[in-house]
Amino acid sequence: MSDNKAKLDINGTVHDYPVLKGSVGPDVVDIRKLYGQTGAFTFDPGYKSTASCESGLTYIDGEEGVLLHRGYPIGQLAENSSFMEVSYLLLNGELPQQQELDDFSYTITRHTMLHDQLRQFYQGFRRDAHPMAIMCGVVGALSAFYHDSTDISDPEHRKISSHRLIAKMPTIAAWAYKYSVGQPFLQPQNDLSYTGNFLRMTFGVPAEEYELHPAVEQAMDRIFILHADHEQNASTSTVRLAGSSGANPFACVAAGIACLWGPAHGGANEAALNMLKEIGTPDRIPHYIERAKDKNDPFRLMGFGHRVYKNYDPRAAVMQKTVREVFDALNVKDPVFETALALEEIALNDDYFREKKLFPNVDFYSGIILSAIGFPTTMFTALFALARTVGWVAQWNEMISDPGQVIGRPRQLYTGPTERDYLSMDKR
Ligand code: SDX
Repeated sequence: MSDNKAKLDINGTVHDYPVLKGSVGPDVVDIRKLYGQTGAFTFDPGYKSTASCESGLTYIDGEEGVLLHRGYPIGQLAENSSFMEVSYLLLNGELPQQQELDDFSYTITRHTMLHDQLRQFYQGFRRDAHPMAIMCGVVGALSAFYHDSTDISDPEHRKISSHRLIAKMPTIAAWAYKYSVGQPFLQPQNDLSYTGNFLRMTFGVPAEEYELHPAVEQAMDRIFILHADHEQNASTSTVRLAGSSGANPFACVAAGIACLWGPAHGGANEAALNMLKEIGTPDRIPHYIERAKDKNDPFRLMGFGHRVYKNYDPRAAVMQKTVREVFDALNVKDPVFETALALEEIALNDDYFREKKLFPNVDFYSGIILSAIGFPTTMFTALFALARTVGWVAQWNEMISDPGQVIGRPRQLYTGPTERDYLSMDKR
């Protein structure tokens, strides 16, 4: 590969392919003409070496443990910004002026209410339905209510659909929790922050004024920031692929929610806390470490490892710090946190985890905070989906507004039977 060309010798013919450079990060070999020129496909199950798109939203350096949103490091955003401001940044590309932020927050706040008929959708679920099942269903149903904003070729339609999705996710998630505990739904309250509104709709009850704890509101808002966007992860790639067919954004986000649910992805926060509870006390950690290393045992350390990060996930560092802040503010102790710290210490000093570069990821500590705030583990991934919605719609907007956008349609290496004639029953 020279400065700007890669040479590929296929069946004795050498083909040149352009090498494209980003503003930072790995170069890419542009193989869009490969099949037409050679009749061959590339083969990359799991897309470990494949750049699926060009994007200016989020940059990750997995070796260095760097995460930037429109160039701003996640640690600085978590420390100094708010989820509304990070949402504006992801959608618009620059940090807002105060008036821009106020206008954006005002718009989002006034889209938090759900169409009253949507409440009927919850009645169709069993009370013990997993909140992610409810989120998939209710978010997908939104497209039946907003025909006035599903012309994806219209930037204004894209904008209002994006605002509606970002605004309504807290209400949808809070009501999923309320439904599971048999409590009445609370309507949004416009004098609260985005995150405060969510906490009140989740934990408030009609009989008394909900007392918002500032430290909890700040921790929850920071957790939303840490989950907002993350390059071309599985659920974002799902949203992009669904959107590439022209599907409406509500349906695309419902597809993203479905993908995020998996324990290898967003479902890991629920699985990680369940694992920590199963381990129980630090003296039982070595047994689980051995299980995680045993190739014949499907057990994995949930909340550890990452497709991109081969260093410490910068979000996990912020999350661990936030655990301490929330525990101090709420004056709580949780033996699970001590177990998590001990597990991290032991794993990071174990050759297996060091050789395979397995570090805690964003899901390792988040469940401990969410549990301390009062969320059941079944709500953890719903909270991840709530926060990731801004990333999904920002990535979807970036794709749809690209005039060169085409439907995503991967090919395959076919290893099935070659053509053969049908056999009648008596000849089989
Ligand atoms: C998220 O992509 C994103 O950006 C996702 C995310 C986001 O913000 O959108 O960051 C959110 O999904 C975080 C990841 C949450 N998932 C988990 O915590 C589940 C546990 N982790 C793993 O399942 C795994 O690490 C993945 C799925 C996260 C990554 O899998 P890869 O990149 O396909 O790596 P791999 O499975 O090929 O693992 C490489 C090796 C394997 O051993 P070998 O086959 O090489 O011998 O490491 C081992 C794996 O067995 N390994 C683990 C392990 N993770 C990987 N061994 C024990 N415990 C683990 N957690």
